This record gives sequence, C-alpha cells and structure tokens, in this order.
Amino acid sequence: MTPPPASRKSPKSARAPSGAPPSSAERDTLRERIQALADEIAEHNRQYHLADAPTISDAEYDMLFRELEALEAAHPELAPDDSPTQRVGAPPAEGFASAPHRSPMLSLDNAMDADALRAFDERIRRMLGREDGELAYLIEPKLDGAGVELIYEDGRFVQGLTRGDGRIGEDVTASLKHVLSIPLVLQTRHAPAPVIASVRGEIVLPLDRFRRLNSARVDEGLEPFVNPRNAAAGSLRQIHDIDVRRLRALEFRAYQLEEGRPSEAATQWDLLETLREWGFIVSPECQRCNDVDGAVAAHTSLLEQRETMPVEADGSVVKVDRLGLQDELGTLSRSPRWAIAVKFPPQQAQTIITSIDVQVGRTGALTPVAKVEPVFVGGVTVSNLSLHNQDEIERKDVRVGDVAIIQRAGDVIPQLVRVLPERRTGTPRKFKLPNLCPACESEALRLEGEAVTRCMNPDCPAQLKTRVTHMAARGALDIDGLGEEIVDQLVETEHIQRVSDLFALSAATLVELDRMGEKSATNLEASLEKARSTTLGRFLVALGIRHVGSTVADLLARHFGDLSPLRSAPVETLEAIDGIGPIIAQSVAHYFADPRNQAEVDRFIELGVHWEATEPRIAPTDGLMSGRTFVLTGTLSMPRDRVKDRIEEAGGKVVGSVSKKTSFVVVGADPGSKATKAQELEVPILDEAALDKLFEDGPPPLPEPRKKKTKSKKAKSDAKASRD
Ligand code: IVH
Repeated sequence: MTPPPASRKSPKSARAPSGAPPSSAERDTLRERIQALADEIAEHNRQYHLADAPTISDAEYDMLFRELEALEAAHPELAPDDSPTQRVGAPPAEGFASAPHRSPMLSLDNAMDADALRAFDERIRRMLGREDGELAYLIEPKLDGAGVELIYEDGRFVQGLTRGDGRIGEDVTASLKHVLSIPLVLQTRHAPAPVIASVRGEIVLPLDRFRRLNSARVDEGLEPFVNPRNAAAGSLRQIHDIDVRRLRALEFRAYQLEEGRPSEAATQWDLLETLREWGFIVSPECQRCNDVDGAVAAHTSLLEQRETMPVEADGSVVKVDRLGLQDELGTLSRSPRWAIAVKFPPQQAQTIITSIDVQVGRTGALTPVAKVEPVFVGGVTVSNLSLHNQDEIERKDVRVGDVAIIQRAGDVIPQLVRVLPERRTGTPRKFKLPNLCPACESEALRLEGEAVTRCMNPDCPAQLKTRVTHMAARGALDIDGLGEEIVDQLVETEHIQRVSDLFALSAATLVELDRMGEKSATNLEASLEKARSTTLGRFLVALGIRHVGSTVADLLARHFGDLSPLRSAPVETLEAIDGIGPIIAQSVAHYFADPRNQAEVDRFIELGVHWEATEPRIAPTDGLMSGRTFVLTGTLSMPRDRVKDRIEEAGGKVVGSVSKKTSFVVVGADPGSKATKAQELEVPILDEAALDKLFEDGPPPLPEPRKKKTKSKKAKSDAKASRD
C-alpha cells in the first residue's frame, strides 16, 4: 500500500545532515516537518477517535509515527510539547505505583427514582434556606466506566490516577497517555494554563468499539469481556504486553474540574465549558435546568436516550449548578451534599425461548434452564436463564417457543421478567419437570414444603460426577488435570463409585482411560498427591455438604480448628456460631449424622488427605466495610479466599447465607439460589466489577442504630438459659 502524502514536503527535504549542526534554514525546515507530521498524526488520531473512521492503515500510521520519533530524537528541542509521540510511555514493570489524590475522589449518593430526586431538592433547599425561588441543576449522564483523575502542571499532563479507594489511586499515567481524547497539553487560548489542574472524569469504551474488540478477542480464542466497563478498566490496568490499540479505543469524558478553576467560573456549566475549551470531551447529553421539574424531565430524556447513546450510562447525575451553593452545602465524608445519582431502571430485552433443559445438581436438584436466543442486555450477552423450579415456571407460565422479556440491572444476574402469551402461535405445551431423573432414570421427588424436585438416588451417576468435579474445583481440593471428560469416564467405568475412590486411583489405572497418555496419567497422579495436602476449610468445601461453600467452611474451620470436634458437634453448638444460621447448622449436623458420610470422611483421611488447623482471625472494627455483611456465590474470577480476605481486611464479614441483614450478595458465574434469595429479600446484588466499585466508592452509610433496643433471639435465649 502506498502511504498517502504525509504533507506537501517530502521527508527527504527535512533530513538533517548528519554530523554538523543544522543551519538556521535547515532548522526551520525541520521544525516545519516535525509540526506537519505531528499535526497529521493528531488528525489521524482525531479521525480514529472522534469519527471512528481511520483513513489510513496501521502500517501507514506507524511510518509517519516512526519518522516523527526519529526527527524528535535527533532534535529534541524542536519537539512540540503536545507531540503525539508523547502519548507513548512505558508502564512500570511490576504492577502500578500508588499515589495520593490531591483531594479525595468522592462518590455519589443514590436516588432510586424521581420522587427521591424531589426529596433531595427539598432537603437542600431547606439547608440553603431557599424554600422558594430558582435552584438550577446540571444533569449529566452517569457514565459506567472507570473514574480517573488527571493532573496538569502548567497545562501539561503529568499524572493520571485511578480512583482507588478515593484517597489513594494507582498511577496509570503511561496507559492514559495512549488515550487519544486526553489532551497532553491544555488548549488554553484565553488565559494562561493554571499552575495545577485536576480534571476528573470517566474512562469509557464506546459500545461499537466494545463489540469490535470482543469479536476480535473471540476470533483470537480469547475470553470476551463481560461489559464495556470491565473492558475499559481492564485495558487501563494491563501490565505486560500492553495493547496500545485497546488503549487508543478508550474515551475519556471529563465531568469535574476540581482544581485550576478559572476565577470567573460561577457554575458547573462554566466548568464544563472550560473543560471543552481545553480540549476534553464532555458528554454532549449534559443539560442545565432551572428547577427540579426540569431535572426530572432531563432525567427522563436521558433515560430515553440510553439505548442510542454511544457509551453506557447507568443513571443521571444531578448537580447543583452554582459553585457558590455547592460550597455552602459542602460534602459528607464520602459524597457531596450538592449532587445525587438517579439510577436508571434495569435494562430489558426481548428474546425467544428455544428449549428448556434440565440440569442435575450435586445434591440431586433438578433445575430447569431456559435456553434463549442470545441477546445483549444490561452489558452482557445472555443465552441461558435459570428458571429455578417448577413453581416459578408455572407462576410465569413459561413455555418453549415463547417470546420472553428478560432483564439485567447493571450488576444483577439475568432474570426472566415475563413471557408474552399473546405472541404465541398455536398452544405450546406446558413444561413439567420430569418424574424421573434425566441422568439415572430413578425417581425424582418434590418433598413437601420444598420448591425443589430432587433425584433421590444417592448413587445417581450425574450427582456422583458433579460431586467429583466439585471436589476437584479450585475452591475445593483444586485437582489439576481432572477435567469433566475424565470424570465421566471414571464414573462410567466404575473406577469411581463413591467420591473417595478418587484418592485410590493410580497412574496405572488412569492410563487405561481413553485419550489418557502415560504422561497425563502420571501428572494426574501427582496432582492428586498435591491435593491430599489441604486445609480444613477446603476439605469441608470439597465434601459438598449442602449450604457449605467456602465462606461457611472457613467459618467452621476457624471456629473448630480441626475436624473431630466439628464432626460430632450438635446442631445447637453449630447454630451458636456467629454467621451460621439454623439451616446451615441443620445441614452440617445432618451430613455428619449419616454413617455413610462419616465413613467417606474416614476413607479420605485413610487415603492420605490431611490439613493443619488455622488460627482464628479478628476483623478490624473501623475498616471501610466494618458493619457490612457479605455473601459470596457463584464462580468468581479469582479464588474466593482472596475476595474474602479483601472484605475481611476491610473489616467486613463474609457469611454463608442470605438474610435481611445481609448488606451485599456478590455473584460470580452460575450463581446458586443465594442470588434468588437476595432478590426476594431485596438485598443488593453485586458482580465482581461492582464489588470493586464498592471498594472504590465506599459502601452507603450504615442505618442509624435504633433507639429502642429489642433483644435479639440469641440474647433472649441466653437470658432464659441463665434463669434456668
Ligand atoms: S461526579 C463529587 N459525575 O460515579 C462528585 N461522577 O458514585 C463525584 N460518575 O466515582 C463524581 N459519571 O466515577 C460524577 N457525570 C458524572 C459521573 C460520575 C459517572 C462516577 C464516578 C464516581 C461515581 C460516583
């Protein structure tokens, strides 16, 4: 391909003679050439970035870039401050250095709807003593990306930080220099640049680029990103082999000028104007309104634009426009009193239910799962939806072939809202869970008072397979090389008839399996050997006791220290443990009351599974998450223990079951019934990205303790016990 003319001057005419310093005429030619190249590259950047329509190939772009780099290297004094080459920086080799923000990066209080926004208006009017009269607001989209602070010294970009915990962020300057919509030099035309400017805004990945990035990833055999927010945050934090194209696709939208305000700026609107003038992208959807009615209307209009906006927004941000009034209102420790975020309702989409499958779980539960035509909703592509149980299917009258409305609010797992019976052609048959287990064809029963239909055969191969797979999982014994296909064969050839048989396997047996070479067999034998040495918590998880995930398991391990006192603990002892409710207590006691299970446990120990007891840990009382209780469910992207440690180190508590008292439920892939329970109890559900955000923004304040104390159940029974 022939490179387009970089400029009217040929590169040759700009080449400085080697050795001797350039004459003044030569210097002028060089300066012109450098400027022409810089301008042209900047224009290509602009086309790529703003119009999203590159007019030259990557190779051509690289040629121009390399020429400019070479000329600047030979004559650094001629390089313009905002040369595109300045966007290239090397990230620190290991991770990112952290650095404090100049002032805390606050988060926003939330209003769930227009009424809450009106209440906010009343509240601040009261505070300002302006019950009547005008109170203007600025309404901006609440961008769903990664918040960053950019520092400019004398108009030059010197440092960029992620939000971090609001006080200290990660230094991602090198990555941010590649983001084309971040001006390297402020375009201050009317006044000199401020000595220090702190510009805050959101790094987002426009939706069309997100889709392109994902399809390219899929083509390369990589996992696609779940949503644009994760892709944006992930791109900023690449450490090794940083992918410059990914960074160039990001967009920075500015929304706050924290420091370096022009003295004549009187309103938030003026600040946005200043930011625009300096060369930043400011959301074009921003609107100024004279009163709260206008703000409500602007919110409604933003909501209508949501589907067609090029970037994702999860609500509106309503800010008091006058800076003087903002100052008067001041800030609380985590959020300003002068701004509020008004959330959008969950996004919905239509799809078609193509079939309903039945999955047999570890405990024999038969779960109906709707397969739907893949649809992108609330930032993820949905193709499967759990229908939970028969009651749910009947309540919603779900049938194969139905048109369905599904929804996913920012962080919640996808749900089926309703089907559209009026769109049915003919009368599709109702779906009924089978009476026989689809795996072993033995009886499947729905016990009285239970919502779940269960395969009652303890030797059901489907259950056995899932139990073995569960035992090998990362949060359990973490057995490398024991894939599903091998487990299927081991169960089908009856080498495994109960889970503990796993530890009786030798390389000699394993090598007899299909597609199992000698090397793989020896490796698997070694993995089994490695897995024998574990922790009590992991072993308890591995046993697959109902309701005992890693959280409960660790709680039990810490409480009892070793297995012997636990396996003989009466239900009352278990229930008395903080974080263990009656259902878990029953389940654990019930498990160990069964002699077959006790024999299984003994056999694991005989076959060499062992652990050391752990020390109890005490949570800090003044951490960011103190007073908050979390429940983790589903497969997380990192070992659960890591997530748990992070919460506990911040003073939070991680428990095993969801109740009204739970502050947050964190869901990974394939979450269990805890997510459903959280929805029922209206406990906020977070995915991992939202958990990160919670650490960044800090949790909402705890409710005021009630004045009149009612005795807790436990206190009452303790009091009763002491009377007895
Ligand atoms: S203003 C002091 N404006 O939302 C004001 N924030 O929960 C604090 N965000 O961490 C921020 N769009 O990353 C503001 N138009 C907008 C925003 C916005 C998105 C993010 C920001 C912040 C979080 C606050």
